[in-house]
Amino acid sequence: MSQNERTFIAVKPDGVQRGLVPEILSRFWNKGYKLVAIKLTLANEDLLREHYADLTSKPFFPSLLSYMLSGPVLATVWEGKDVVKQGRALLGATNPLASAPGTIRGDFAVDMGRNIIHGSDSVESAEKEIGLWFKKEELVDYKPTLTSWI
Ligand code: PPS
Repeated sequence: MSQNERTFIAVKPDGVQRGLVPEILSRFWNKGYKLVAIKLTLANEDLLREHYADLTSKPFFPSLLSYMLSGPVLATVWEGKDVVKQGRALLGATNPLASAPGTIRGDFAVDMGRNIIHGSDSVESAEKEIGLWFKKEELVDYKPTLTSWI
């Protein structure tokens, strides 16, 4: 855990198309995290195969792939104390039927194959995912004025 820990959070195509981007960004900002990088992007199959490398043999992988290729993804990087673990808590359980009300998936999703958002599950995965989705120069280094209050 560190003050400068970073995580990769992606609003998936359903979250973008449903207009949930402002709500999702607000939840991270309001919690006290600092936005370090953001871009709306169309993923490609090579990127997704690397991103989901441990899942390529799962039976659901082809549908996960076509879901993630179905529209733009909002890729973001957030920084702050324990942000990997806290980010996962803001997302809620992977299966929306198990995610608590008050979490992003608990409030906005019902289907595992349409679960709105991805968040890194460890500091190591976060480093890998940030490197896959962003170039070094896209990560912005700045001191937000509000941080000292959080
Ligand atoms: S597993 O099987 O335990 O490794 O899977 P899990 O950790 O629960 O989920 C890993 C990612 O796969 C996505 N997933 C699915 N997508 C589509 N359809 C089905 N049935 C499905 N099952 C799991 C799940 O949302 C996770 O993606 P991310 O992007 O990490 O949330």
